Amino acid sequence: MQPRSSSEDDKHLALRVQATQTASLIKEKAKEDSVLIATHFDADGLSAGSIMLSALNRLSAITTLRVIDRIDQKILEDLEQVESGLVIFSDIGSGYLDIIRKILRTREIVIADHHQPLGDPAGVHHFNTHVMGFNGSEEISGAGTTYLLAKALDSRNVDLSTMAIVGALGDQQDKGEKRGFKGLNSEILKDAVDSNLLEVKQDLIFFGRQTRPIHRAIASTTDPFIPGLSGEEDRCLALLDAAGVSTKTEDRWRTIADLSLEEKQRIVEKIIAHMVSLNLKGETVLNLVGSVYTLLREDPGTPLRDGREFATLLNSCGRMDRAGLGIAIGVGDRGESYKAAQDVYVEYKATLSKYMNWVATSPGATRRGRHIVVVNGKGVIDENMTGAVSSLVSSSNLFGDTVTIVTTVTSSSDAKVSTRATERLVQKGVNLGKILQSLAPKHGGVGGGHAIAAGATVPQSNIQPLLTELEASIDGLLS
Ligand code: C5P
Ligand code: C5P
Ligand code: ZN
Repeated sequence: MQPRSSSEDDKHLALRVQATQTASLIKEKAKEDSVLIATHFDADGLSAGSIMLSALNRLSAITTLRVIDRIDQKILEDLEQVESGLVIFSDIGSGYLDIIRKILRTREIVIADHHQPLGDPAGVHHFNTHVMGFNGSEEISGAGTTYLLAKALDSRNVDLSTMAIVGALGDQQDKGEKRGFKGLNSEILKDAVDSNLLEVKQDLIFFGRQTRPIHRAIASTTDPFIPGLSGEEDRCLALLDAAGVSTKTEDRWRTIADLSLEEKQRIVEKIIAHMVSLNLKGETVLNLVGSVYTLLREDPGTPLRDGREFATLLNSCGRMDRAGLGIAIGVGDRGESYKAAQDVYVEYKATLSKYMNWVATSPGATRRGRHIVVVNGKGVIDENMTGAVSSLVSSSNLFGDTVTIVTTVTSSSDAKVSTRATERLVQKGVNLGKILQSLAPKHGGVGGGHAIAAGATVPQSNIQPLLTELEASIDGLLS
């Protein structure tokens, strides 16, 4: 880690003071009243909720936890029905300060979040790392933010640092050099490594390193996307054959974690040769090696052993309507919930790959604008899956360096939008969270998020005008 400048020191001090103050409030309130945790439903949100639940259990607080996919009036009214003196939001809330304050006015409210805020935080204990000057889409997740509070509650909560890393991986914040972390995330990583809970090493980055047959691990990796290999299991098998790497030992498929250094080198050489034969730049090959995060207390060969697979497992629970399983795993259940979650994981992967095939092969599924691609998932894509599809379409580079917009219709007949930019477009000034924060209310809905990833829900009749303005706003920035 780099030494800090004095202004960085000031920021860290202010963060620590605010964490301590917010933690004392939680501690005091939890002594006399029950606590409600409301957390977001993706991998980061489930990690954040698990961290807060574990921390409150350590305080012997009476706690209820609700997993929510967004904030709107109806959801807040439901939360208001739950008996509690303190409501803690994690990985969600900062974009909805006014409505939260209004509907939960009789409660003490803590928000532990990393999203771009909107509204007046007066009267709310707003613990938002982004507001405190730490970039919430690059260097600190919702789980990380919640972990900082948990650590201020009790120093023993450093054992929750692994969940903060899982959350950050779920939010794709491993965007530092060689898939490392930046800023606050790397400080949290140090807690996990120093506590002997986690190991970081440079290795092949292919997804599913603990659990997948090698050819499937290579084929299912989309970041980086390797034309001719990503999505092509047969070609990956042929490549392994050419590299002289056996795919099985006796009856068991070997995984990336089983390979020797020498075998890994042979695979990389073959991939380089493949890229050269396609006239592709070698820089993607450099991205094949990066930081891998191994959770040392988890059994080898399980998806929980690898931070990225752990995050995907949580994401699948959240997005397949089984968020409770994700929380159970997050707080340490390795029994029935874990078993059930593995089936959900298989179903999630199958659903996602069905959607991706549909996107790639149906000409009517997509519409291209100057700087955007719109996937119209109405009648096809489930409302809880738009974010996952949007992330995958964007990272798979199917449509190049564009803003990806995935839309669908929800069970309550609203239109839901999930948008993703690229790092290059964000550097050029695109801030999807800010755009949707201002456009969605104009069209009768809610919206917000990060510069690189944001979403909105609006009445179905207003989706076209919203998309037209969204597109105009992006074109205006980029032309
Ligand atoms: O609500 P939350 O902050 O946890 O969600 C952020 C979302 O943005 C995640 O679904 C994450 O996968 C996505 N994301 C992305 N590309 C990035 C950064 C985040 O798709 N570069
Ligand atoms: O739903 P999706 O995964 O596309 O959300 C991307 C990001 O935008 C997440 O960080 C999510 O919390 C945020 N978001 C929001 N308000 C919404 C929808 C999404 O802040 N109405
Ligand atoms: Zn998050």
